[in-house]
Amino acid sequence: MKIGIDLGTTNSAVAYINEHGTAEIVSNGEGERTTPSVILMDGDKAIVGDIAKEASVTQVDDTIQFVKRQMGNDSFQIPLPGSDKMIDAVEASAIILKKLVQDAEQELSEKVTEVVITVPAYFDDGKRNATIEAAEMIGLNVLKIINEPTSAALAYYDMEEDPSDQNVAIYDLGGGTFDASIVNIHNNEITVLSTDGDSNLGGFDFDNEICEHVINEFEDSTGIDLYDDDDAMQELRENAEKCKKALSRLSKYKVPVTSSGESMRVEITKDLFNDLIKGIVDRTKLVMEDAIKEANLTWEDIDKVLLVGGSTRVPLISETIKDFTGIEPSKELNPDEVVALGAAVQASLIDGDTSLSSSANIIVKDVNSHSLGIITQDKSGIDGNSIILHRNTEIPCSFSQEFYTNHDNQERIQLQITEGEDLDPDYVTIIGKSILNLPPGLPESSPLDITISYDKNGIVHVVARDVTNNTELRDMIIERKSNMTQIEMEEKKEELLAIEVE
Ligand SMILES: Nc1ncnc2c1ncn2[C@@H]1O[C@H](COP(=O)(O)OP(=O)(O)OP(=O)(O)O)[C@@H](O)[C@H]1O
Ligand SMILES: [Mg+2]
Repeated sequence: MKIGIDLGTTNSAVAYINEHGTAEIVSNGEGERTTPSVILMDGDKAIVGDIAKEASVTQVDDTIQFVKRQMGNDSFQIPLPGSDKMIDAVEASAIILKKLVQDAEQELSEKVTEVVITVPAYFDDGKRNATIEAAEMIGLNVLKIINEPTSAALAYYDMEEDPSDQNVAIYDLGGGTFDASIVNIHNNEITVLSTDGDSNLGGFDFDNEICEHVINEFEDSTGIDLYDDDDAMQELRENAEKCKKALSRLSKYKVPVTSSGESMRVEITKDLFNDLIKGIVDRTKLVMEDAIKEANLTWEDIDKVLLVGGSTRVPLISETIKDFTGIEPSKELNPDEVVALGAAVQASLIDGDTSLSSSANIIVKDVNSHSLGIITQDKSGIDGNSIILHRNTEIPCSFSQEFYTNHDNQERIQLQITEGEDLDPDYVTIIGKSILNLPPGLPESSPLDITISYDKNGIVHVVARDVTNNTELRDMIIERKSNMTQIEMEEKKEELLAIEVE
């Protein structure tokens, strides 16, 4: 059985293709269509989902959440509650995935072996690799990593009666990430023209704005600093989210706070909330403007703006989009489910599966969200970033260049691979060093043909050919900072197997 998984910052969802050939959400063990991406450790058992989310208020120290924001961050380690172990974002994600897959197997009465997992389009190579590692850690075969807005476009295509020629803009604002994609649908082809985003911007930041406001009000009137009170802070975080959701429908809401014997209700009106989040919403507007420019289109060319992600329920989002695009955003997609549905469609398209009724021969063309480069030195020895594959190039894509050995019998060649748009190495991400051992006896200035590529998952690879001997040298391994050795991977797998997940 193949399934599609939307592994979200705050909520995850699973979908499959049912016997009628349509994508359908798989409910979790609690009968819910989405599962909060929160882990509660109960002894050595990990409980994932609603119960964990509720417990995060009263048992802060026993819960882990928002790990997606830490994917690819190799210095992030969090204590595994109730033990002396530390885990990283990959392992925490593996625990969440285990819950999702286990529940899907139960519900579908079939073993799940293959998955398509969605990631924010703006995820870089390190974050994508981390996502694959999390799945492999629990024994899943990852068929593909697909970008969340692309997945939404695929689900949209699949649902449309007559998805003829159209350009759609996808505005995807979830709990922790923002993506904007401009997509062309023509016949049976879905072509992503451009994508842009911010992997650290989401509903979480709206909650933070409310929290900060309440903290200031509380301090002004009581002199108490809520930051010193962990329990009050966690409660506030929860109430801030409640307040935000309520303000999607009400005109005001009172946030209760209690600390050190003092209680208060801080009133947040819709206007105040809009003021608080205006800066964040404006950032999404800039990203959208950039995406339309990169697609070489104007808003007049766009037929529809599709809203994806729970945070698009905030009314200011639609109002702002209408303002700068002139288009009333369409709410026809279920913002919580559409990404997972698209992932299930994508899974069924792989290996010529025929279970899908409507879009059996649909072609999806996606792009890379970051430019790929290498560090080079100019004549005076100053490092610079040379971009070799510009962002918004259709993937898979590759670039080859000849490099020459510097001296006789050179033993190895080293490349530093980057992602980012700047020419200054300080402002791009160095994703890793790629070191290649050379065959013995090459004279100085021997040509080496080096190909750097993005695969279909947006992951970087480097291969090299020794032109002198006309032989392919083995794939250059990119030494990513976060790379796990086989042994570390096995150790972590063992550890995870020992954790019972419910
Ligand atoms: N009615 C509502 N009004 C405002 N915000 C809402 C509403 N319902 C949900 N949200 C917010 O939507 C966010 C969750 O959205 P979603 O489930 O799409 O995110 P995610 O998939 O977990 O995150 P990401 O895609 O960024 O990884 C949360 O911040 C939540 O507070
Ligand atoms: Mg999401």
